[in-house]
Amino acid sequence: MSEYFTKNDIYDKNGTLLLSKGQKMTDAIIAKLKSLGSYKPEELINSDDKQRVVLTPISKAFGARMNIRNDRILEQPNKVLSTIIFESKTKPWWIYVNALANYVDWLYTHSIDVAMISLMMAVELGYRDDELLNIGLGAFLHDVGKLLVPKPIIQKPGPLTEIEMVYMRQHCELGMSSLEPFNLPKECTDIILQHHERLDGSGYPKALKGDEICRNARIVMIADAVDAITSGRPYKQPQEMEVAVKILRNDEEKYHQELITLLEKIL
Ligand SMILES: [Fe+2]
Ligand SMILES: [Fe+2]
Repeated sequence: MSEYFTKNDIYDKNGTLLLSKGQKMTDAIIAKLKSLGSYKPEELINSDDKQRVVLTPISKAFGARMNIRNDRILEQPNKVLSTIIFESKTKPWWIYVNALANYVDWLYTHSIDVAMISLMMAVELGYRDDELLNIGLGAFLHDVGKLLVPKPIIQKPGPLTEIEMVYMRQHCELGMSSLEPFNLPKECTDIILQHHERLDGSGYPKALKGDEICRNARIVMIADAVDAITSGRPYKQPQEMEVAVKILRNDEEKYHQELITLLEKIL
């Protein structure tokens, strides 16, 4: 059965607070409000509405792709990513967001997915609002340097040659230098530079190890790897999320295992 809650604070005629916002209504409270002439049914929210999470089409599509049934998990990441995209429209780096949407077909979807997965983990880790904006923007733009890697390499339907790999691996530093003029916070740009580093030092571009890799990049590298495995590419079929988690678990010296446990818990 539906329950009803107050939409706003309710005051009597003299301006005294009778009930605060979000308070559950009972028959006794309704009777009391009626007797005071302060009962306004239009000022109540149905519990069904209260639980309904309003997601943007982008987050809805993400939830469907990732098979996430509980929209609640997406609520906060959706809010943060919508703010980031909305606010970026007035920022000088908007040209890069636009370019990501138009370069190769999967790159924008991948950017959204990595931002959403990273934000889901960051929310669970108790990140503050400003920290969420930094990791969200960094994750959203993590592959911005791929815009400077030739399309035939990005879209090659097979394994890359040694020299193509060299080009591809430059995308971290290319992304970093593309965004340099905008003075974005380090918590954000470090993600772009470090998301292909690995805890055991086997990553690139700098072969950083463990704590030399910033916390945000350690989260985004997992989101990035999970999304790469679970999505289709010109050269490979998508795999299930469980497969992705298993692969990252087997690479325990490369990825932060506690974060993988956290991701499993969320999903
Ligand atoms: Fe990347
Ligand atoms: Fe990526």
